[in-house]
Amino acid sequence: MESRSNWGTRAGFILAAVGSAIGLGNIWRFPAVAYENGGGAFFIPYLFALLTAGIPILIMEFSMGHKHRGSAPLTFKRMNKKSEFVGWWAVLVAFVISTYYSVIVAWAMSYSVFSFNQNWGSDTESFLFNDYLQMVDPGQVGGIVPGVLIPLIIVWVLVLGILFKGVKKGIEIANRIFIPALVIIFLIIVIRAVTLPGALDGLQAFFAPDFSTILDADVWVAAYGQIFFSLSIAFAIMITYSSYLPKKSDLTNNAFIVGFGNSSFELLAGIGVFSVLGFMSAQSGVGVSEVVESGVGLAFVVFPAIINEFPGLNGLFGFLFFASLVLAGLTSLMSITETYVAGLVDKFNISRTKAVLFGGGLAAIISLIFSTQGGLNFLDAADYFINQFGVALLGLVEVVLVAWILRQVKDLKDHTNEISDIRLGSWWAICLTVITPIVLGFQMYQLLTQNLL
Ligand code: PHE
Repeated sequence: MESRSNWGTRAGFILAAVGSAIGLGNIWRFPAVAYENGGGAFFIPYLFALLTAGIPILIMEFSMGHKHRGSAPLTFKRMNKKSEFVGWWAVLVAFVISTYYSVIVAWAMSYSVFSFNQNWGSDTESFLFNDYLQMVDPGQVGGIVPGVLIPLIIVWVLVLGILFKGVKKGIEIANRIFIPALVIIFLIIVIRAVTLPGALDGLQAFFAPDFSTILDADVWVAAYGQIFFSLSIAFAIMITYSSYLPKKSDLTNNAFIVGFGNSSFELLAGIGVFSVLGFMSAQSGVGVSEVVESGVGLAFVVFPAIINEFPGLNGLFGFLFFASLVLAGLTSLMSITETYVAGLVDKFNISRTKAVLFGGGLAAIISLIFSTQGGLNFLDAADYFINQFGVALLGLVEVVLVAWILRQVKDLKDHTNEISDIRLGSWWAICLTVITPIVLGFQMYQLLTQNLL
């Protein structure tokens, strides 16, 4: 374990952590979540969640991984032998996510190619479900559409190839290329989007604050949920990535950069998506509220329909949009996959190559199930379950364990303060020991009473 690999540079680590955080959730989840939960007013609970839970937990996970220098299971084990299972639980959730996240990245890859000729035709919904997802057979539609299988194989070959290369030569270099490329592509998309006819109406709908929602508990729960998923916290990822940091690393500063970097991208995505939705609403003559969508529906049904109507260079715009999904998705997928690769290496003392082959190979095979139409229902169910229960429950268990049961807050604070510029004060401890457990506990209570009673 002494020869644990390290990031080559501080920027390399920050880009990799930002790469994990910026994912499909930023682009297709945040805009609709913000819109549905008060628009401009949502920024209040959202910022509160970022400052009381997002960044404090990011600091906690950075500190845990850095201090104990292990994958999530090993880190938890080093804090206390009996708590190793929490690390494995997080790793297992990450494993499940990777089996379907990869499929969506593969769809985006296909759609980036379809964009050029708008292969999806005018009925984009029927194309997705009745044509594209039926085609496991390569080259079915006029030899142009390779089905889901080939892009899925490309996604896994890319991700596992990068992980084979290791932390510095693989993950770091990939993020150094992918993240700047993603930001440039996304800026081009947003600049084009805000200059579309109707964009202003979309932006007005997005930013118009509805303060009547501000006291609604569901809105606060939505804000915390978005922050957790978006920052990839409570998924073993940030612990794993920070275990590769060199001894002298400014953990607090890094956490602030990653937290604000991710939220800035999220805001940018909101502006881009709502400008485009405003355009769509102007074209079709229906209100913006009628065209708002999130997730698969937004990216693979609504966006292709909008691209059909796009004024000039629509192939290129479509390509850039789906390419941004691919880049955002790949960098997140790498981070999720690395959690179980690192877990296997630490636990069984096997080489990285073997861990990538076993762990990644198994995830790749399972992902094939999700790539069929039958698997689609399964994908929906898995995503719902992970989002609703995985995130809140794991987050709750993690903070309660670290703050209350193992009483690690002071140790981690001292460890972090020794090497960081910004000193952690009691605000940090209060966020971890009081605010986050109360919010997540409430969220769990609500989920259980809504779902089970
Ligand atoms: N944070 C990523 C996003 O916003 C998704 C993600 C979640 C990645 C959980 C890894 C683990 O899409």
